[in-house]
Amino acid sequence: MADSIKHLIAAADLTEKQIRRLLDLARGFGPRVTRGEIIPLLQGKTVVNLFFENSTRTRLSFEQATRKLGGTTMNFSASTSSLSKGETLIDTAKNILAMGPHCLVVRHASAGSPHILSKELTIPVVNAGDGFHEHPTQGLLDVLTMEEKLGTVKGKRVVILGDIAHSRVARSNIHILKKLGASVAVCGPPTLLPPRPEILGVDFAFRPEELLPDADVIMALRIQMERQNRMQIPSVAEYSKIWGMSRERAKLLKPEAIILHPGPINRGVELDPEVADGPRSVILDQVFNGVLIRMAVLASVCAPEKIEEQLKISQSQPGGRHV
Ligand code: CP
Repeated sequence: MADSIKHLIAAADLTEKQIRRLLDLARGFGPRVTRGEIIPLLQGKTVVNLFFENSTRTRLSFEQATRKLGGTTMNFSASTSSLSKGETLIDTAKNILAMGPHCLVVRHASAGSPHILSKELTIPVVNAGDGFHEHPTQGLLDVLTMEEKLGTVKGKRVVILGDIAHSRVARSNIHILKKLGASVAVCGPPTLLPPRPEILGVDFAFRPEELLPDADVIMALRIQMERQNRMQIPSVAEYSKIWGMSRERAKLLKPEAIILHPGPINRGVELDPEVADGPRSVILDQVFNGVLIRMAVLASVCAPEKIEEQLKISQSQPGGRHV
């Protein structure tokens, strides 16, 4: 099982083949989930959602993914836990492990937390977002959505717009898109771009107008006020005026270009409501695909012995395999 994965900590760790297997698996689950099937790969297994930061989409879609695979969940919420009494991350995780779960999904404000847990624990660990570092399942669901709409990301131009410096979503997307042969550019205020974007293997511009006409995909990112140690944009209104996807700016795009946003959206800041809800927007497709990708990841780490058979089922379905 050379291409199987034990943990999912970072998209940077995945090979092209491992990414392709996860996408194929997720794609194959799509019609079965739509039909209401339970695919019992996690029957008798428990997944713990250990969230130290707020989440709507990621936590609920991991829960839904577990249910669709016939498993059960245990949910941990930092605000109602014994963390306030001084218990450490590792002690918390080891105490939960003693209750017998089979997988730990973790979101934490500190980059590297899932990696540390994967070294300490004997069960698979899946990163649901760690600080500025990575959000690998988000990167996978974004690429699944792009390929659903565009056929392939190979040779396509993806423009990531906004707060790149603080974005774990941007980092995971860049790793995956580069491995699959897409061309990536980032754009945002100079204070919200990494000091040397070219190190990431991407092009960059400070003004969206330079990049929009050639883009096949625009991914607008949320302005993350909670991760800025000082205000790095003059004002939200100015950000919106220069970098927001307004209706006027969207007119610069090719007719077939699509718009993604990982959520939650600051409406009227990163995206005008008409753009967020318009025909180019695939934001709710991203959310549905989030369940499929999390099913693929949970099945891969919890039931690796069953994956080959699932891939055969996936690939035998119409549109089930990306070529
Ligand atoms: N995209 C994303 O991570 O959303 P949540 O913070 O709601 O999980």
